[in-house]
Amino acid sequence: RDEVVTIPVVVHVVYQTPEQNVAREQIDSQFERLNQDFRRANPDVGKVPEVWRDLVADARIEFKLADTDPQGRPTDGVIRRETTRPVFDTDDSVKFSAQGGSDAWPADRYLNMWVCNMEGVLGYAQFPGGPAETDGVVILHQAFGQTGTAAAPYDLGRTAVHEVGHWLNLRHIWGDDESGCSGSDFVDDTPNQGGANRGTPTFPTVSCGNAPNGDMFMNYMDYVDDAAMYMFTKGQVERMDAALAGPRSSFLP
Ligand code: ARG
Ligand code: ZN
Ligand code: CA
Repeated sequence: RDEVVTIPVVVHVVYQTPEQNVAREQIDSQFERLNQDFRRANPDVGKVPEVWRDLVADARIEFKLADTDPQGRPTDGVIRRETTRPVFDTDDSVKFSAQGGSDAWPADRYLNMWVCNMEGVLGYAQFPGGPAETDGVVILHQAFGQTGTAAAPYDLGRTAVHEVGHWLNLRHIWGDDESGCSGSDFVDDTPNQGGANRGTPTFPTVSCGNAPNGDMFMNYMDYVDDAAMYMFTKGQVERMDAALAGPRSSFLP
């Protein structure tokens, strides 16, 4: 695939307090980040260690707020729904009006992105192949975008980059086996890595015998601070391409 794929996004802002009702500016700052990171156009890409510079890849995916609703009417792509629930968790209730959330738009035509208050998690995503009613990503409002209620160290919009990576079938770079060395992300060009990295690690951070270069902790699919992650690899982009050619092919032009 040479051409860029544009994904229409509907943002469901589900709020109990006025502050959770994030402003359009905060939403726009999230799209700016997504459209940089999935095009290898992020200003911090130059921080990738020299040994991995050739692996950094342009995913050729862009995101825009939907301009047409499921009934074909014009929309600004933002749904604002007041709720009585002060906090959501990862049980998907934010995805259902009947449970105090906002119903998904058809998942074969829109990426559903819910923004709400949550406890103990910055965001979560559904992998390709799941039920349409719950498909999409959920982002804590304080980890959404780069302004407004976005709070350090998760105020560069990278939680959504990470979650949309999952939505396109990417796994955590350490293989989800805590600190073991047998889990895999099913990507060949990412080093085998023990567990998740957090904060702002220094290069090299070695695990699982991956010296001298160590973990690729600056990958969007690790757990480091927003300012410490700035790359997808070619192998990860191949995996996202396969998702777009397969279970997510309804988004191809
Ligand atoms: N699903 C992860 C969590 O909630 C998201 C991690 C995102 N990392 C980040 N730097 N924004 O813990
Ligand atoms: Zn994750
Ligand atoms: Ca790997």
